[in-house]
Amino acid sequence: MKVTVLAPATVANMVCGFDVLGFAVEEPCDTIIVTRLNERKVIMEPDPIFDLPTDPEKNVSGAPLLAMLEAIDDNIGFSVKLNKRIKPGSGIGSSAASAAGVVVAANAMLNNRFSNDELIQFAMHGEKVASGVKHADNIAPCILGGITLIRAIHPLDIVALPAPDLFVSIVHPQIEVKTADARSVLKTRVELKDAIKQWGNIAGLVAGILQNNHGLIGRSLQDHIIEPVRSILIPGFDLLKEKCLDAGAIGGGISGSGPSVFMLSATRAIAENVGLAMQQSFDALAIQNHVYVTRIAPQGVRVIQTEP
Ligand code: HSE
Repeated sequence: MKVTVLAPATVANMVCGFDVLGFAVEEPCDTIIVTRLNERKVIMEPDPIFDLPTDPEKNVSGAPLLAMLEAIDDNIGFSVKLNKRIKPGSGIGSSAASAAGVVVAANAMLNNRFSNDELIQFAMHGEKVASGVKHADNIAPCILGGITLIRAIHPLDIVALPAPDLFVSIVHPQIEVKTADARSVLKTRVELKDAIKQWGNIAGLVAGILQNNHGLIGRSLQDHIIEPVRSILIPGFDLLKEKCLDAGAIGGGISGSGPSVFMLSATRAIAENVGLAMQQSFDALAIQNHVYVTRIAPQGVRVIQTEP
């Protein structure tokens, strides 16, 4: 049996919600094919473009499937072929798409015996491989679609929020920022005055999403803790943000751990203009870049083909 899925890119953090908020986008998506084996093992087909590890324990798709196999007695295994369009290290949930996509495909072979929460737990093993930490703010929206709030990880408590009809501009500058490095530069202590601003913004953002209140969403897309540290890794970040807001964006910031930057806009026309401003900003710095203009995706990983 063979199952093919489309796994979407995701934007983690949503600026103020470090490790607790994230959303899925319609584009780009990875295509992932999982084939059932009659042996308890996981095989990663080599990736000619990105040279990803083929040892399943060291692979972001392999580790979640090994965790899934541990939870079942069946004499089955999986062979995985990734067709990656979400570039590893781009900051738009490449590892999450690889991890979430395979567990949804494998679950389809198992007559959907695992719940979404269980799939999220398996897929988080992939994030551990990628960055050393089991965060769910890419995995959960990748599986569930829309915007998700990770209220807690132990035990897992995920709240699916309604996806507002917003457009998303994302720029991926061709510079490398590893999630593990972008986490290691963060301070481990937070000033109370910054924490107060931050939780005001997280609450404001969630309220704005529930009320579909673009003004409140925009005012809340501010980060007093993470962005001031991480933005140093993205050349021209402050000016880029200013230009995007001038072009009409509601707000935005670093996507996940970067280097990609995202902005939300009310219409596709504005989002296209914002995308242009993004491109021009990195062109002016002679940094190659790729821009996506897309939408918040109401749906997460999708099974597109099942072959007996
Ligand atoms: N919340 C994670 C981080 C997302 O910012 O490190 C990584 O994509």
